[in-house]
Amino acid sequence: MQRILLADDAALNRELLRDMLKEDYQIEEAQNGEEVLEKLHAAPEETAALLLDLRMPKMDGFAVIHHMRQQGWMTRIPVLIISGEHAAEIETRCLALGVADFIHKPFDSSIVQNRIKNAIDFFVCKNTLEQTVKDQEKTLQEQLRIIQKQTEKLKEAQSFSQLMFEYRAAIMEVETKLQVLNSEFSEEFKRNPFESIKSRLKSPESIYEKLERRGFPISVDSIRENLTDVAGLRVICSFPDDIYRLAELLLKQDDILLLRKKDYIQFPKPNGYRSLHLILHVPIFLASGKKYVKVEVQFRTIAMDFWASLEHKLQYKKPVNETQEIIRQLKKCADSIEELDYQMQTIRDEINRCSGQTQPLTVTHRS
Ligand code: GTP
Ligand code: MG
Repeated sequence: MQRILLADDAALNRELLRDMLKEDYQIEEAQNGEEVLEKLHAAPEETAALLLDLRMPKMDGFAVIHHMRQQGWMTRIPVLIISGEHAAEIETRCLALGVADFIHKPFDSSIVQNRIKNAIDFFVCKNTLEQTVKDQEKTLQEQLRIIQKQTEKLKEAQSFSQLMFEYRAAIMEVETKLQVLNSEFSEEFKRNPFESIKSRLKSPESIYEKLERRGFPISVDSIRENLTDVAGLRVICSFPDDIYRLAELLLKQDDILLLRKKDYIQFPKPNGYRSLHLILHVPIFLASGKKYVKVEVQFRTIAMDFWASLEHKLQYKKPVNETQEIIRQLKKCADSIEELDYQMQTIRDEINRCSGQTQPLTVTHRS
């Protein structure tokens, strides 16, 4: 049963109206404005309608309406004025304040019931409609938010694949440069300074993992700024001096910028790891213009690569409980490999000398 608040200081009026409505509604009564507000405040949501007398002690009907307007209740609770002989201007004023209807004396049971029912139905309808509009607005906003998020993701994905494209282009640039050097070198000295080139683009998973591990933001700009090894090339040379010769020839090219050099041949890692690492800024030429991209080039001999590959398989980055003995043995292997590298290089030089072959300027950096 819907609840109606019946406010009138005249007990007779309350009694008459209660008798007319008690079959259909739960009736709550108030004798003055203060009581009305008290009861409304106690349960504003549960009041289906307010039948309000204008002339009441303590607080009159207008004051009640004023307060209800402040609370925003006039749009949710239909207020019907119980009136005697009221002048038109009072009715006009009430209507202007948002009053739903009037119940005039003498009370006619069916008119009273119908006016109240119509007012409640109208407000329920209006409020439901308002709620539906609000809900739809919320749904639309949510959908808009999802679309915006997806657009952001798409943009990010687009710029991620653009970035990967740039790295691939940079790998191609460096690979071509190295191949050109290799051809030129082999024309002149009848042998190739490198055995093979391997290139790789870091996987999105590894990129994400490295950014996370190093505490960098996860974004395309952050990849560009903070990672130097997304584009990687590994050049496997025959002899140690080829490494420095190739690196020197590459760095001599005036479009390539050296960002960082890590010479783990002169200064091997404590575990024995040897390689020459160059972090380069390589220009790529796009329709939009020239762009510099970071590339990591690792130079190793076949022997160094043999050690690094096996060592990597054994434990690099893997949480193996390595004992001091394993570390010692791996280091010993690395040192033996270095020894072998230089022995092979010396043998090559001797063969060249015997066969009277010219040897390009030898640059040897031995640890
Ligand atoms: P990463 O986070 O591994 O890239 O290291 P980093 O950015 O500090 O650079 P660093 O020069 O130490 O290593 C770059 C790369 O060289 C590694 O990704 C490996 O490919 C290789 N590397 C470096 N140290 C070792 C090592 O001890 N063993 C092996 N097998 N490879 C190594
Ligand atoms: Mg790396």
